[in-house]
Order: sequence, then C-alpha cells, then structure tokens
Amino acid sequence: MKCIIDTDPGADDVLALIMALNAAQMDILALTTVEGNATLAHTTANALRLLEYMGRTDIPVYAGSSEPLVGEFHHAYEVHGDEGLTVRLPDTDMPPANGDAVDFIIETALETPGEVTLFALGPLTNVARALMKEERLKDALRRVYIMGGTGDSGGNVTPYAEFNIYDDPHAANAVFGSGAPVTLLGLNISHQTSIARDDEVWFTGDAPGERLAARIVENWFELGQAEQRFSMHDPVTIMAALRPDLIRTRAATLSVETEGERVGEITADYDSGGSVDVAVGVESEEALSFMRGLLRG
Ligand code: RIB
Ligand code: CA
Repeated sequence: MKCIIDTDPGADDVLALIMALNAAQMDILALTTVEGNATLAHTTANALRLLEYMGRTDIPVYAGSSEPLVGEFHHAYEVHGDEGLTVRLPDTDMPPANGDAVDFIIETALETPGEVTLFALGPLTNVARALMKEERLKDALRRVYIMGGTGDSGGNVTPYAEFNIYDDPHAANAVFGSGAPVTLLGLNISHQTSIARDDEVWFTGDAPGERLAARIVENWFELGQAEQRFSMHDPVTIMAALRPDLIRTRAATLSVETEGERVGEITADYDSGGSVDVAVGVESEEALSFMRGLLRG
C-alpha cells in the first residue's frame, strides 16, 4: 500500500507513525507536515527526528502549511509538550526535502493514479490545498483516511468540535465536499480505543518503537496529570486502513460550521449517501490488540 502520511507530530501522531513504519504492507513514500499540535518548525523537526530514531531516513519529509485557509492555528503545547512532543528525541541533521507538501501530494498521486493512500493526522490544510489546486486529485487518490470530528462524542476543544477540524474548518469543508473517497475516524472511535495509565502491558517490551511509544505515553500522563486515559486518536487511521473489518462505517455528506460558537462542528447527512465513510463503530479490544502488535513490529 503506497502511502503518504500528513501529520502534526504530536504524541499520538508518533504512535501512528511507528505503527505505519512497522506495518509490512505499508510503503511510506513520504511524510508531509502541517502546523497544528505545534508550529510547523516543531512538527517538521519531530517528524525528521522520529525517522532518524527509527532508522528510516530513506523516507523524505516535505513541510507544508503553517497557517490555516483562514485565520491562525491554535496549538496544543499544553498536551504535547513544549516542542510538540512529550519526549525529546535526539537531533538529526536530515533536512526537510526540497519542495512543498502540497505539490508532492499532487505529483505523487497523479504519477500512479488509484494507488496512493493518504493519511491525514492533523488539520486538513495541506489536503484541502492539494485538492483545490488539482481537480484530478480526488480521483487519483485511492483513499484518504482522516482522524477528525467528534462523531456522536463531545468535542475535545469545545463541546462541539474536535481539534483537527476546529483548527481549520474551511479546509475540512473543502475536503469533505471534494468528492475524494474519505474514511473519517472521530473521537467516537478513538475514545473507544484508549489505554489507562496503569495498563502495564503497553509499557513492557523492548522493540525500539515500543520503548519510544511507552516513554511518549508515560510522559503524556505526567504532563496531563488529570488525564486517566490516552486515546489512540491518530493510530486508529492506520488500524482502519489495515483492518477495515474492525470498523463499521456509514456513507454521508458532511458540512462543517466555519464560524461562531459551534465553529468546527460537523453535521452529517446519512440519508443522501455521499463520498465520506464515517466510522460509527469499532471492535475496540481487537483494534487495541492489533495496534499494540504493530507497535511491537
Ligand atoms: O483531536 C485529536 C487530534 O488532534 C489528533 O490528531 C491529535 O494529534 C491532535 O492533532
Ligand atoms: Ca495529530
């Protein structure tokens, strides 16, 4: 599976990236970075350092958007640490690849139509800009797996909105309305695939990715004292792509509120079908054990 992963690493982004790197079926063509959890400089540095740590500097990192389609990004340093990651990874001298994330996504998908799967783990700014710049992209992508939205859960930024959608609601509207084949996994799914701070089984094992994931999650709990569970927000997109049998989806047409008190709220119309497959259920235990196995490699 040829893949491009658009990401704002970010603690849970890094767990998703470790799982993707360990998945034999996934041929990661590049990471593209977007501002969100942290500034573009931090998310790009975190992506480069992770690839160095995992011995995968063969994978290029293309930096993307440092501002949403409208307005400014809100960050989440209070959750992800002062450089956007709860672990200080060793520096790398690997620079970002030359070229912009948006152009890389377009060119790569059009080179092999129908073959590239795109994962969107942060605000949808890069994905929206690519779809708006190249009309053929929506048909060239095999599928777009997105972590975003609340589903029937409450929001994590406001009661109505989840962070990735809240941070660029205009981009979310553009992506959901583009006709690209989207699978959307929201908080309704990731809250069912979370781990408790005393779930020892997640913090044993000595594979490199497993050890790093354990340190990231342990520090995440340290930082957010009140938190009792770590939700596998971004990792569920990797799980859904590799084990579609573990999720249940419904086709929908989505619209996103772009202003006012409910900015970022998604309204789903399930009656008229549509190009977005919204995840409405997950086999939680099997999904968690599958993701734990992927961390182990
Ligand atoms: O709401 C969770 C999402 O926002 C995750 O992608 C997390 O990394 C943050 O970007
Ligand atoms: Ca993310």
